[in-house]
Amino acid sequence: MRIMLWAALLALVAAPMGASAKELSGKELFEANCAMCHGKDGTVSDYGKKLKPFPARNLRAVAPFVDRDELRRIITYGVKGTAMTPKKYTLDPLEIEEVIDYIKTFDYKPNLANGKKRFEAVCSTCHGMDGRAKTGVGAKNLVYSKLDLKGIIHTIRYGRPGTLMTSKRHQLSNADIADVAHYVYSLRYKASPERGKALYQKNCASCHATPGDIRLIGNAAQRRKISDLDDRLLDLRIRHGRHVERAGEHITKLSDDDVQDIIAYIRASTGKQ
Ligand code: HEC
Ligand code: HEC
Ligand code: HEC
Repeated sequence: MRIMLWAALLALVAAPMGASAKELSGKELFEANCAMCHGKDGTVSDYGKKLKPFPARNLRAVAPFVDRDELRRIITYGVKGTAMTPKKYTLDPLEIEEVIDYIKTFDYKPNLANGKKRFEAVCSTCHGMDGRAKTGVGAKNLVYSKLDLKGIIHTIRYGRPGTLMTSKRHQLSNADIADVAHYVYSLRYKASPERGKALYQKNCASCHATPGDIRLIGNAAQRRKISDLDDRLLDLRIRHGRHVERAGEHITKLSDDDVQDIIAYIRASTGKQ
């Protein structure tokens, strides 16, 4: 009886083993297929650094911020014209997922001082030393940007086609990209609804007792609500054009940060209005 059970079990186990090679973990697959160029720890090997036309890239630095879909696409199809050849001939789709799982365990500690240095060297010509983009080339104000870290890193990696914001992938290493992105994120203005409330009482309440009393004007009024307007459009409606005639010149003296705070207060008190 016992022997028969063993035989049956052996037959079950042996069949798949014979059909395909031993299953490797994501780590083992990475070490066998990728470490040669990307380094065992994902930070690029000496060999990978010397590759032409472009060196291998540090996967550890960007792994937490790059989506699986993007990793899958690059690993499956490679990057044309570089040593990163398509891996779909050496790894099956499940093995690629295993490798991605492993890459996704990489963590990275950003270096904000390096991020600041690189930002000032590479980004400030358009975005300004303080990130507020007062340089006149139409760059976005990064201090009020709504992008999360992933979005910032995506923008740096790929740029915005058709604008001056070109891809910075060959200007910056992945570690630099991660550092710059964390630095940009650290510049983010944190609007204060409490401060906004005080500014509102002083500058707005004489005509709009509460933010709920604000009515949009013009044709847009029938179709739009305050929540349909992003911060920039709302700011335009407050500090520019017809509203200045209604509210008085003093409205144009509010600073950018003042308006961010007022808008934060308006949004907090009107919700979905
Ligand atoms: C022969 C060297 C080599 C091997 C082996 C190799 N890569 Fe690459 N890899 C590169 C190079 C070079 C680049 C940079 C391509 C470029 O400039 O866009 C790259 C880029 C990448 C990128 C994109 C990184 C980024 O920041 O855009 C990913 C992801 C990647 N490799 C994953 C892998 C994985 C996973 C394996 C193993 C299954 C692997 N690579 C094996 C050389 C290699
Ligand atoms: C040559 C000018 C120029 C340089 C240099 C430049 N940018 Fe930009 N950047 C732009 C422009 C223009 C836009 C607006 C693109 C658009 O209209 O969507 C932009 C947009 C962005 C955005 C999107 C912001 C948002 O909220 O949508 C980010 C993030 C960004 N840049 C980061 C950087 C970083 C980081 C660097 C340096 C590594 C950099 N940029 C260098 C011109 C530049
Ligand atoms: C002296 C009066 C006055 C003051 C002060 C005033 N407003 Fe207004 N505001 C108006 C009038 C009048 C309208 C037209 C709609 C209406 O009658 O409610 C208006 C409309 C608006 C609109 C809609 C604009 C549009 O284009 O649809 C917004 C937003 C707004 N006010 C915000 C503010 C904020 C924020 C403040 C304070 C920083 C403020 N207002 C201060 C009189 C004022």
